[in-house]
Amino acid sequence: MVGQWGKEDDKKVVVRCYNDLRDRIQMECMEKSCEIGNDQTFLFTDTLGDPICRIRNTPLFTMLVAEVGTKLVGCIQGSVKPVKFHDKSVNVGYVLGLRVVPPYRRCGIGSILVRKLEEWFVSRNVDYAYMATEKDNEASLGLFVGTLGYTVFRNPAILVNPVNPSQGLKLPSDIDIRKLEVEEAASWYRTHVAPTTDFFPDDIDEILQNNLSMGTWVAYYNNNDNVRSLAVLSVWNSSKVFKLRIGKAPLSYLLLTKVCNVLGSCLPFLGLTALPDLFTPFGFYFLYGVHGEGPLCGNLVRALCDHVNNMAASDEGGACKVLVVEVNGESNGGGDDSLMRCVPHWKMLSCDDDTWCIKPMKCEGKMTGLGEFNDMLWKLKSRPLFVDPRDV
Ligand SMILES: CC(C)(COP(=O)(O)OP(=O)(O)OC[C@H]1O[C@@H](n2cnc3c(N)ncnc32)[C@H](O)[C@@H]1OP(=O)(O)O)[C@@H](O)C(=O)NCCC(=O)NCCS
Repeated sequence: MVGQWGKEDDKKVVVRCYNDLRDRIQMECMEKSCEIGNDQTFLFTDTLGDPICRIRNTPLFTMLVAEVGTKLVGCIQGSVKPVKFHDKSVNVGYVLGLRVVPPYRRCGIGSILVRKLEEWFVSRNVDYAYMATEKDNEASLGLFVGTLGYTVFRNPAILVNPVNPSQGLKLPSDIDIRKLEVEEAASWYRTHVAPTTDFFPDDIDEILQNNLSMGTWVAYYNNNDNVRSLAVLSVWNSSKVFKLRIGKAPLSYLLLTKVCNVLGSCLPFLGLTALPDLFTPFGFYFLYGVHGEGPLCGNLVRALCDHVNNMAASDEGGACKVLVVEVNGESNGGGDDSLMRCVPHWKMLSCDDDTWCIKPMKCEGKMTGLGEFNDMLWKLKSRPLFVDPRDV
């Protein structure tokens, strides 16, 4: 026995469904002992006492735990939903929240958990399993790509912008912003976004009607010269689901925080924005369905982001400290500007290489083999992804 999570080699690993009454307390301890990140930044998730908060909003979900004796040593979550992929309606299974406590790593428990989840996916008629991780998470990529046959298929960027709490950002006077009704937004997404994106959720109405969905806004020019340009985005209030906290931050962020805070209080006329404290648990808004059309859509996307900043700044209790958008690394939306360039974000807080991996669950029936599957992924590489806010 070594410490709290000591190995008991003589005991077998049992994988079973999570039981809220029995497992909740041990789950929280396990989450705390499993940090994710690289040498500089460790991101902790505070599930606000609900271990399955990240999957609750999908139509079908499960959580499995690995147990040795009476101790939980690992867990995994999965959710299933219908999406458009490769111009077809398919069921995809999202793998998330995989954790194995440090003393039990490299004993095959992570692989067992993923394989059990894949069996559950197959029993729920899932066509493809997919997962996302950071490009420098060697253990995760070693496991999924190296051992379990997943293929890296996209590298979107996660753009993070601190909410400016003090000043309302002023929007350009020639741009108007209007909130869309849920039906209007769903129909707009179906006609304008679904045909050009992958992973567009068939149940978009459910997402837009969810309590966490704050609404959908369209921005357009109010003069007749630029009527061809418009931009749309929807906002999901992740603050109500879970909180994040940075354990160790890049040195540059620590220095900048100090400089801005000292200068801001000594020389208020400089108007410097105080940087948010990301070391205590913070909430965020996730901006999804970000889409622009026309030559000036970049400015409209920027105006929408500023509009959401102002909403977040007046959020109850200042719970929302950052805005998060996930976009393809490539250009999107038909305008001159790529979303990467027009969505305001801080490079030092953002991650420019999130790594999405996929594996077909029904290889024999629909594809002649993995070669054909990889060819298909290659052809679709430039299509933007619709990032479902329920996957965040
Ligand atoms: C990722 C994680 C779940 C792996 O669990 P695990 O039980 O150690 O994985 P396994 O023992 O089944 O490993 C199977 C294979 O994956 C690869 N792998 C696992 N850990 C690895 C590491 N640290 N570096 C490189 N490859 C690794 C190896 O190929 C390994 O086979 P081997 O041990 O025969 O060489 C675990 O490291 C963990 O909890 N990490 C922190 C949380 C996290 O990053 N989760 C993934 C989020 S997507």
